[in-house]
Formats: sequence, C-alpha cells, structure tokens
Amino acid sequence: MTRTYRIAAIPGDGIGAEVVGAGQKVLQALAKLDGGFTLDITGFDWGSERYRRTGAFMPGEGTDVLRSFDAILFGAVGAPDLPDHLSLWGLRLQICQTLDQYANVRPARMLPGITSPLRNVEAGDLDWVIVRENSEGEYSGQGGRSHRGLGCEVATEVSIFTRVGIERIMRFAFELARSRPRKRLTVVTKSNAQRHGMVLWDEIASEIASEFPDVVWDRMLVDAMTVRMTMDPGSLDVIVATNLHADILSDLAAALSGSIGLAPTANLNPERSAPSMFEPIHGSAFDITGKGTANPIATFWSAAMMLEHLGETAAAERLMRAIERVTADAENHSPDLGGSATTEEITSATIRAIGLNAT
Ligand code: NAI
Ligand code: MG
Repeated sequence: MTRTYRIAAIPGDGIGAEVVGAGQKVLQALAKLDGGFTLDITGFDWGSERYRRTGAFMPGEGTDVLRSFDAILFGAVGAPDLPDHLSLWGLRLQICQTLDQYANVRPARMLPGITSPLRNVEAGDLDWVIVRENSEGEYSGQGGRSHRGLGCEVATEVSIFTRVGIERIMRFAFELARSRPRKRLTVVTKSNAQRHGMVLWDEIASEIASEFPDVVWDRMLVDAMTVRMTMDPGSLDVIVATNLHADILSDLAAALSGSIGLAPTANLNPERSAPSMFEPIHGSAFDITGKGTANPIATFWSAAMMLEHLGETAAAERLMRAIERVTADAENHSPDLGGSATTEEITSATIRAIGLNAT
C-alpha cells in the first residue's frame, strides 16, 4: 500500500518562496520515482505580506492547524520594512515553541565539489552535527523594557535554563553522538562568565554522560569553540549548545562548509507529540530575492532530513546522493558558490540526478 504524508509548506518571505517551490518540485519528482509513498502538500501564505494585510503573520489557530500534518517545510521569514523580532516571534519561533520542537539539528559537512574557505580542509575533516537547544535559554522571550525614551531607559533579556530542558537536549545529543561512527560529543557553554545557567548545563552534561559510557565527550567555552572549529575541524563530531550559542556557531559552520545556501536544519519534536519542521538555515535574503539565483540545496537537504524523519530512509538517501552528484559538478553552482547556475537549473539537475540514482 502507498504511504501518504500530509506536508504543510510555509514558504514565508523573500527567497523562501523560491527555495520551497523548488523543494516541492524535487520532493514530488522523488515520490513519483520511488512509487512507495505520496506527498499531499498544502501551502500556507503565512508571512510578512499577511502581516501587512491582517496584522498577524499567521492565524491565531495556526499552530493547531499544523498539528494535523506529518511534517512542515518552511522557507524563511523577515522583510526589510518590518522589525525582525516581530517576524521571527510571529511565525518561526511561535511554531517551534508551541509544537515543542526542542531539538534543532544542523548538520554541516563538505559536499563534493564544494570548497571550504579554510585552507587544506579535506572532506572528512569537516563532518559535524550541531544540536541547538530550541525551546529556552536566551530565546525564552522573558524580559522587558521600562522608562522608554528616557535617559534611564532599561531593558532586560532573561535567559531561562531548566533541568528538564537541559536534560532532554543533552540526552538527545548523546544519543545522536552514539549513532555516529566516531561517537564524539562536545558540550559548549560559557560557564566561566555565566555562573548559574551555564554551570547547570555543565553539571547535567556530566550526569547524562554517565548513561553513555561509549560516547567520548568534552567541554568547550563558546569563544574558544570558534577557534577550534576553524583551526582543528577534524576534532569535532556532534556539538551541543544553547539556543544563542548554537545559532551563532551554526552560521560559522555553514560558512566553513562552503555557503549558508547549503546549510539545512530540522526543528525536531523527538517525542513526536506534534509535527517537526524542516527549513534551510538562511533567511529571506532580500539582496537576491526575485533574481532566481537563490541556492536551493539547503532546502533540498532539509527535505531529505524530513523524509528521514518520516521513515522514508531510502528516499532520503536517494535525495542526498542526488544532491552530492549535483554539487560535484561546478556547472551546477549558484553565485554564492562562485558559479552562475540558477535556482531552476539546479532544481532540474537535481531531479535528473534522482532519476540517475535509480535503486
Ligand atoms: P540571510 O540568510 O537572509 O542572508 C545572508 C546572506 O546570505 C545574504 O547575502 C544572502 O544573499 C545570502 N544567502 C542566504 N541564503 C542564500 C541562498 N539560499 N542562496 C544564496 N545566497 C544566500 O540573512 P540576513 O540578511 O541576516 O536576514 C535577512 C532576513 O531574513 C531578516 O529579516 C532576518 O530576520 C531573516 N532571517 C530569517 C530566518 C528564518 O526564517 N529562519 C533565519 C535568518 C534570517
Ligand atoms: Mg541564525
């Protein structure tokens, strides 16, 4: 019997629409060739345009609507004429937090044919998965502003770290490390300067580590971590860090592995009590919107992570092999990689490569 998955597609703003459109084409071509499953994709017009029209990025019952889907494919949100904190909290964070997608998984590795800005880095030297705590920490939304406009104006941005929140992300990261060949985990904090929440992170890391004697783990301070990622990339495997720290480190990881246009991410609800969301790491990229040159590979890779999560492992694998075949040929490189291929050309090349990778 054919398996059917209901997918919510939220293209959002800017190049979000271009890359999610390309992603849907690739997914449908893949499903057709595979024959074992179909994708029933519903599009939602949520984003900045909707905000300008109605005063809300998504309807009030939006996250309840999403609960009936098997997975969500997201583009990006953010527009030049709207404050970024409104768009981010009005859509993406709203979905992640309400659907308890607490594990943000961000793989970074050198795809074939891609050059790292790091000198002498070999493909196997940069193969990481960054696990970002996605529900609390610095992005808890707690804080406030008083005395607006006065000389004594004050703002607080409160980080929240809970035992439950840290234990679950730490256990997720150790399990992921255990599933990979090298079985290594680096726990990133800033527990020298931040002496409460970050010290709790360190303590819980040690506790959870005792459940995973087969995982080799170590600790790094986040500032030193940027140096290690640059100078000794081969020493890293799985990395776990707070919401803010991993946000920054994963942009660095994306740049070191070639381009932000290649970097995928999964916002997982590991218990599957609600759907998970898959998206490129990049934003709406106003500077290239409408030019047809956005690199869709990050979205294709995110789509492969979605198939993996849905249990369509063979299709996920087939899509990854197609992506690798495409990036290996410099003809298929978009301007962010120094080439001149368009979104459409890369999409067609990927669909052709899926066909070549017949099982
Ligand atoms: P950005 O990721 O949109 O762009 C940064 C640079 O990378 C730009 O030069 C852009 O052209 C390039 N770039 C990004 N994706 C690319 C792709 N697929 N192919 C080729 N080049 C690509 O980040 P920026 O400029 O900081 O933010 C723009 C807007 O996006 C803001 O409103 C921001 O809040 C929002 N944003 C939304 C995110 C989300 O929805 N998850 C994530 C990051 C930013
Ligand atoms: Mg970011």
